[in-house]
Amino acid sequence: QDYNEQYRPQYHYTPAKNWMNDPNGLIFHEGIYHLFYQYNPGGTTWGAMSWGHATSPDLAHWDHQPVALQARGFPDNITEMFFSGTAVADISNTSGFGAGDKAPLVAMYTSYYPQAQTLPSGKSVEANQQSQSIAYSLDDGFTWTTYDEGNPVLLSPPPQYADQIREFRDPGVFWHASSSKWVAVISLAQLRKLLIYTSGDLKEWELASEFGPENAVGGVWECPSLFPLPVDGNGSMKWVAQVGLNPGGPPGTPGSGTQYFVGDFDGTTFTADPESLKQTNWLDWGPDFYAALSFSGLPDTERVDIAWMNNWKYGGVIPTDPWRSAMSIPRKLSLKTIDNAVALVQSPVLNPEPGSTQHWDSVPAGITKLDLAGKALDITLTFTKSESSYFGIIVQATADLSEQTCIGYDFTTEQLFVNRTLSGVADFDESFPGVYSAPLPSRNGTVTIRVLSDWSSVEVFGGQGEVSITAQIFPSDAAIESYLFSIDGPTRNIELAAREVHSVW
Ligand code: FRU
Repeated sequence: QDYNEQYRPQYHYTPAKNWMNDPNGLIFHEGIYHLFYQYNPGGTTWGAMSWGHATSPDLAHWDHQPVALQARGFPDNITEMFFSGTAVADISNTSGFGAGDKAPLVAMYTSYYPQAQTLPSGKSVEANQQSQSIAYSLDDGFTWTTYDEGNPVLLSPPPQYADQIREFRDPGVFWHASSSKWVAVISLAQLRKLLIYTSGDLKEWELASEFGPENAVGGVWECPSLFPLPVDGNGSMKWVAQVGLNPGGPPGTPGSGTQYFVGDFDGTTFTADPESLKQTNWLDWGPDFYAALSFSGLPDTERVDIAWMNNWKYGGVIPTDPWRSAMSIPRKLSLKTIDNAVALVQSPVLNPEPGSTQHWDSVPAGITKLDLAGKALDITLTFTKSESSYFGIIVQATADLSEQTCIGYDFTTEQLFVNRTLSGVADFDESFPGVYSAPLPSRNGTVTIRVLSDWSSVEVFGGQGEVSITAQIFPSDAAIESYLFSIDGPTRNIELAAREVHSVW
């Protein structure tokens, strides 16, 4: 496959062509990772929403698959679009979609109806209504049949929210073993509320509770999901609710962001821990990490997220062609107690390849050129507080440094930052250039950061992964140099492990 166009990510998922947004229906099934995603089969901007599909044996190499759910009536007379949702393996055939001993996979998604109509099920919908529907697969996720006899299975929000009929979307469905029920968390986007429904068969749904608004409410709430995670790898379980927010993302970012809450879930109600409600918990502090979703079908100890590495503020005008948007690197999630608080920690899933390690007792103030050229890099940098006030690494720089992406640490404020103000093409949207920061206390003065740089992005993980900053960049082809920088004095005790990441295509 020829994935060599300018800005084409070398190890992040992109469709060969056309527009992509949210990951959907992530499921690990029969040894294969399935990535479905919001896809426009007809062009490089949002529209004709369908579920695109790709599969992977290892979360690194992806095979494009035919569109799984194509907008009904595409291209000329679209009557239903397939908005975001999730997929589960119905191993006990609660839905009855199974055939013989073949258990179905079931996807639950939002049907968006651009025009009023009466559906095959006899149900009537208004123009621009959003309802929840299901589809099933009897060939392990490769082809799907919509449940036309019954769809939508959730026609409208509950009566007290009847006026939210156009803002009711993105079901996150999972099996809750201890109550032996399916649970779906669905967003009332404008009200910044999550509705929690339960079901025995994925067809009949009952409202169980609601959550929100809480913490960040500067934009609509979308793409919610709820999942358990063990704390510190031991037996005690907590539940995490993750929610997309658009706009109103992390401080200093221009639009979309993802927040999470840590709490408990009893099969009916999600209760956030008081500590989780003290301040907004950002899953990522950068501008380009939205609609994060985790895989179903993995053990509870192996929670892996993928997010849309773009932002609604400028997503439709980023300078890539013939595709638009990439997915984030898959990230393994865990809950760790750090400084007496439970933090969501992310670790990128990336096959290790050989690299080189370098050590400096001290790097002088100013800029030090590295023997590290290329755009697709995996870098781990450790350093200790010394006389400098800022220290870090510059990647994807031109030799004259007129283009550069600067990733560093501010010892005074103890913040990790990414500066993309000089990262290359940025004139497509006035809000694109910026500096993004995340709080990262040093450990006895020592700081570790990991940088995943690709042809049009950087993802930066701080500490053990308790913070991350994800930002797209569009540097010129000549921007392949790397440097260390140390401001206001030298920085000591530097360890740099770096390797080039090879194309997965
Ligand atoms: C989030 C979102 C979802 C919706 C989908 C439509 O990015 O707006 O709420 O289902 O995109 O493509």
